[in-house]
Amino acid sequence: MNAAIRAVTRSAIDKGIKVKAIYRGYNGLISKEIKEFQTQNVSNIIQQGGTILKTSRSEEFRTPEGRELAYQTLKKEEIDALVVLGGDGTFRGAQALSIEWNFPIVGVPCTIDNDLYGTDDTIGYDTALNTIVNCVDKIRDTASSHERLFIVEVMGREAGFLALNSALASGAEDTIIPEKETKVDQMEELIRHGFRKSKNSSIVIVAEGITGGALGIAERLKKDHPEYDPHVTILGHLQRGGSPSAYDRILASRLGAAAVNALLDEQRNVMMGITNGKVVYVPFSQATQKKKYIDESLLNILMVLSK
Ligand code: F6P
Repeated sequence: MNAAIRAVTRSAIDKGIKVKAIYRGYNGLISKEIKEFQTQNVSNIIQQGGTILKTSRSEEFRTPEGRELAYQTLKKEEIDALVVLGGDGTFRGAQALSIEWNFPIVGVPCTIDNDLYGTDDTIGYDTALNTIVNCVDKIRDTASSHERLFIVEVMGREAGFLALNSALASGAEDTIIPEKETKVDQMEELIRHGFRKSKNSSIVIVAEGITGGALGIAERLKKDHPEYDPHVTILGHLQRGGSPSAYDRILASRLGAAAVNALLDEQRNVMMGITNGKVVYVPFSQATQKKKYIDESLLNILMVLSK
């Protein structure tokens, strides 16, 4: 997110536009936590994880009264347009504010879940994916030395992009993702085919959103198949921190610059995206309501390659 903040700030200043940074998201807009930014305010942040602007969930902004207060701040601060950074909740809020008060807003997609329709990747996803793969590589050392089965839980309440692609990239034996959870009883299938026929370790990567998560899967496995002694690792919030990958920094730089251009092009209510290498504008309504599907062929590839 810092790389995107840097890109928006410097692209705007380059176009002669004044930049005001809003701290703590919509809460900060309501409580007027605002500071004018110059070029140097975003120096040395491209390599930092997190966000220098802080973030928060705002219950007040969910109400029309809260959004009216936010609008009053915008008027008082003489802000003519907003660039919001976030995921679907952020864009839903932006859409409501924009419609109620006829205010120009564009969005930059930031979520490690990569679950926003209309863009191939969201900012943070690639970094989180690399972090997971790094961790699984390390877990593999124990799994293989001790000939153990590990169940690794990664983030993703409703989306399996992190789980599926980290499974492919780390050579995991299987993945269980929310999108496919109900299709078959994957653990039973795996056991039937034998985890260990030709291998001395097994790693299954599960998304946190599946029923019971990794702990639930492990419990069930121990109960139904006491011959297995699965070990669980929940990666948790370490997936959301750390210095961003080069890919994420470039993505954030492109999307942040695109957001400023979009506003100058009179675009409203759109999220910046990149598909097939090109910047696209995706209406907030689509980004938040349309489902981004996983590529199911990747599951088949995983199954073939993990045999
Ligand atoms: O929506 C992004 C996400 O990273 C999810 O994958 C995860 O479940 C959630 O945020 C964690 O949010 P919090 O830090 O508020 O618990």
